[in-house]
Amino acid sequence: GWRMSEFIQQEVELLRERVGNNRVICGLSGGVDSSVVAALLYEAIGSQLSCILVDNGLLRAGEAESVVTCFQDHFKTDLHVVRAEELFLKELAGVTDPQRKRKIIGKLFIDVFRKEAESIPDATFLAQGTLYPDVIESGADPDGPAATIKAHHNVGGLPAELGFELIEPLRDLFKDEVRAMGLELNLPEEMVWRHPFPGPGLAVRCLGEVRKERLETLREADAIVIDELTKAGLYREVRQAFAVLLPIQSVGVMGDDRTYDDVIAVRAVATDDFMTADWFHVPYEVLGRISTRIINNVRGVNRVTYDISSKPPSTIEWE
Ligand code: XMP
Repeated sequence: GWRMSEFIQQEVELLRERVGNNRVICGLSGGVDSSVVAALLYEAIGSQLSCILVDNGLLRAGEAESVVTCFQDHFKTDLHVVRAEELFLKELAGVTDPQRKRKIIGKLFIDVFRKEAESIPDATFLAQGTLYPDVIESGADPDGPAATIKAHHNVGGLPAELGFELIEPLRDLFKDEVRAMGLELNLPEEMVWRHPFPGPGLAVRCLGEVRKERLETLREADAIVIDELTKAGLYREVRQAFAVLLPIQSVGVMGDDRTYDDVIAVRAVATDDFMTADWFHVPYEVLGRISTRIINNVRGVNRVTYDISSKPPSTIEWE
């Protein structure tokens, strides 16, 4: 709308003034906030923006590709995709404890990001997608529940000691305003409405050991869940949905043989703020299509279950 385009124009002027002839680095995750920050900066400073995507091998199906399509083919940004799957999977080998997974991934992310950022000459600024609710939370009681949850979750955040000056152009905005800005900047609808995705990615949805072939199973099942919800017109109403690969096998039957194969749990929630959430009443027919497609197409899966727990006391993620 008109007011958003005015606001963008003002922000663009401010950014140009602040950045001058310097270079800005922006980390991309595939998520809404970082994408909008990058699109805004591209509008403001074009070739003085360098974007970094760390492909940790824990992204959803097609996620790295859609970032490349958007920020290299559509917006011609200087995009650095760091292919770090092998490194992450090596460090995660044999690790099953959820908090250890998070720690390993968070630390590696910072190492990999720092190394790539240092290879970009003359970078002065680091742009981040901090929103107004994040600003309020960090100003609130540092030991309060909101702060604890943020510290616990924000493995993807970058520490100040990286030595850049911070640019946070979304600091005054709420999520719906960020989405409106993204649309005004011509980001694709799928990117603007994408469900949130945890920094540790598929690792915390791959219960038990995180191995390449297990991630592949999970990724295929997850893509089916999202595709069927989208086809049913439910993707936006469901605020977050995904597949989880369980760390057990279950018995099945195929012809004259018994199988002993993987189990996929499907999670879909309705929520306003992700602090509380209700399990989403996905119609039985849609659940049926999800189950049939996963069992028929994803090798090594012989059972699908639907998670009917609300938060609290359950969390949205399984670990
Ligand atoms: P829970 O599972 O705590 O999740 O109900 C609430 C929201 O936070 C996301 N989440 C994370 N995000 N790093 C993140 O960046 C994490 O380690 C993490 N754990 C959970 C979750 O996807 C949901 O949107």
